[in-house]
Amino acid sequence: MIYARIAGTGSYLPGTAVSNNDLVARGVDTSDDWVVERTGIRTRHLAEAGQSASDLAFIAAQRAIDAAGCAADDIDLIIVATSTPDYIFPSTAALLQAKLGIRNGCPAFDVQAVCSGFVYALTVAEKFIRSGSNKRALVVGAEVFSRILDWSDRGTCVLFGDGAGAVVLEASEMPGIRASALHADGSHHGILNVPGAVCGGQVTGDPFLRMDGQAVFKFAVKVLGDVALEVLEQAGALPAQVDWLIPHQANIRILQATAKRLGMSMERVISTVDRHGNTSAASIPLALDLAVRDGRILHGHRVILEGVGGGFTWGAVLLDF
Ligand code: ACO
Repeated sequence: MIYARIAGTGSYLPGTAVSNNDLVARGVDTSDDWVVERTGIRTRHLAEAGQSASDLAFIAAQRAIDAAGCAADDIDLIIVATSTPDYIFPSTAALLQAKLGIRNGCPAFDVQAVCSGFVYALTVAEKFIRSGSNKRALVVGAEVFSRILDWSDRGTCVLFGDGAGAVVLEASEMPGIRASALHADGSHHGILNVPGAVCGGQVTGDPFLRMDGQAVFKFAVKVLGDVALEVLEQAGALPAQVDWLIPHQANIRILQATAKRLGMSMERVISTVDRHGNTSAASIPLALDLAVRDGRILHGHRVILEGVGGGFTWGAVLLDF
């Protein structure tokens, strides 16, 4: 039996931490108290001018490859989850392949599932590895959401940050990923979107993120609970047998509600939303890498990664680290 197992993790946060009061100083009509009370967010990182998703992905990927103890050229599949790609095309994954100097011709492509993107990309990579067609995948979540925020919309601009996280996923005789589930329901596309495009040299529609916060909140809490229970059932496991839950980092109240539904204490939930804000597809691998490097997540620990995002899309992966 071939499993897919995480062999190394890495991440990167650009620039310095920008506090809620820094946003007030920059003219955002908000307050530290409001943002902390409603979301748990205290700081986020914002990319420097000229820094793109592939730049952030490059550093996170190098760190994951180092942690896995392999060479860049040993990677035989690259998947980048992003909704803020460098270009319409080529894909951010192809640009990352070039930046890493990988010349072995391995496939490289992007996955676009917004804040569920990393869980989608990891699940796709697992299928390639379990089929036997690939041995070592680089799976990255990288975002520069600061580029699609309307800084005059205080209901959204305070929520997001930039960053990247990466894992190397290897074929292994030891499990690995034990269960996964992916879902989408496009009928909810109206409650969270960037409803713009480029056509004939013009931006058509609206190039900024728009959200009905309360509708998103209710949807996220429901599906994050449902999908965690779904992967547990697939694996024949109980919430009590999970060492760590890493939900997409959107809002501390969403994390708390999900943990409560699963009967897990917040001590077993990895939370970075206070420091990173919502980094969309990057939030889960960023939180994973942080908890691996600070010694909380150890080899053999059972972990659930789960995401929900625009589309709507949602999904979860249950794995032994
Ligand atoms: N600072 C100060 N006041 C604000 C701010 C702000 N940044 N934003 C909104 N307000 C005001 C509103 O104008 C409103 O004022 P009013 O009562 O005078 O009209 C008041 O605060 C309440 O606004 P609501 O939108 O009702 O606030 P709510 O309690 O719903 O909190 C929030 C908003 C934090 C966005 C919440 O709905 C939420 O967390 N939703 C989940 C959305 C989310 O996490 N999205 C991330 C992307 S999706 C994902 O990752 C899954």
